Amino acid sequence: MKKRILTGITTTGTPHIGNYLGAIKPAINLASDFDESFYFLADYHAIIKNSDSNAVGQSVEDIALAWLSCGLDTNKSFFYRQSDVPEILELSWILSCVTAKGLMNRSHAYKSATSMNTDEEDKGITMGLFSYPVLMAADILMFNATHVPVGNDQIQHIEMTRDIAGRFNHIYKKTFELPEAIIQDKNNTVPGIDGRKMSKSYKNIIPLLSSEKQLKKSILKIVTNSLEPGDPKDTKDCTIHSLYTYFASKDEVDELTNAYKEGIGWGDAKNMLFDVINRDIAPIRNKYETLSSDKTLINDLLSDGASKVRISAKEMISNLRDSIGIKIIS
Ligand code: ADP
Ligand code: TRP
Repeated sequence: MKKRILTGITTTGTPHIGNYLGAIKPAINLASDFDESFYFLADYHAIIKNSDSNAVGQSVEDIALAWLSCGLDTNKSFFYRQSDVPEILELSWILSCVTAKGLMNRSHAYKSATSMNTDEEDKGITMGLFSYPVLMAADILMFNATHVPVGNDQIQHIEMTRDIAGRFNHIYKKTFELPEAIIQDKNNTVPGIDGRKMSKSYKNIIPLLSSEKQLKKSILKIVTNSLEPGDPKDTKDCTIHSLYTYFASKDEVDELTNAYKEGIGWGDAKNMLFDVINRDIAPIRNKYETLSSDKTLINDLLSDGASKVRISAKEMISNLRDSIGIKIIS
């Protein structure tokens, strides 16, 4: 059996250091262990919570450029936009028809949305949000991915995908592999400038594709306590120290830890952090600048990627239609 890795990023917002460390970089590094790799831009997922059409469009471009700038090789991987593969939506409907509503009721995303409602449980909840795990299952099952690298928050969706795949296999015929989640590191939650998980929802991000000047500005905004230079500082629960460990060597981390004990000022600590982050992402920024100056490149690469994957997507759909009884009348 072929080992296939597949992962997607929802196209809302600008890619940040958390996406880079927690999703893009590890997923690209994994490609060499697999027979085939699929990376895609989940733009139909983006409209679940975002009705700003300009923002969704811009984000597709930014996130595509982030993958490419971080080293995704389109000659060795399939790279495409979800909406360019309409077969995924057809599969999503077919899967909806074997998915128990009760399974969707248990979805964390749905439950956390309803928990905020006091009077009417489903107030403001769309069918898109409710059945979002089915669309995600379609993304994965369409290409029979065997492994799906995701963050902690997505584990439940992979379990649901297995459940849905199993139901289809049982009712019709064995068509789908049951995919496994690859969780990079359970504790790998990159903090944002306010100390909470870095997330576009909290507006606490350090952008990945910014200029050196903007990068410095974001780092200077990291919230610290009011200890003065000369006061010994604690590395525990410190955003600067925690971010530093992602980019620095062990010796460099030891050096910063010592400097904390000796009372380094927050400004100097931030400068040290800037240096290591900038060292790591400067090549990415350079590549981004080159790629973004070529205005047709992204469209060309994405449409080429979609043409490639649609060959197997069409085959899968024709197989499925046959299984469920939607056949050409002869
Ligand atoms: P955001 O939280 O900014 O909305 P997404 O939910 O779109 O980010 O996440 C896209 C990918 O990046 C997911 O695989 C997610 O696990 C990863 N990711 C996002 N934020 C972080 C973070 N702070 N630390 C580690 N990984 C992250
Ligand atoms: N839901 C995922 C997220 O928010 C993105 C995503 C959509 C995805 N479809 C996928 C990830 C399929 C892995 C596989 O992060």
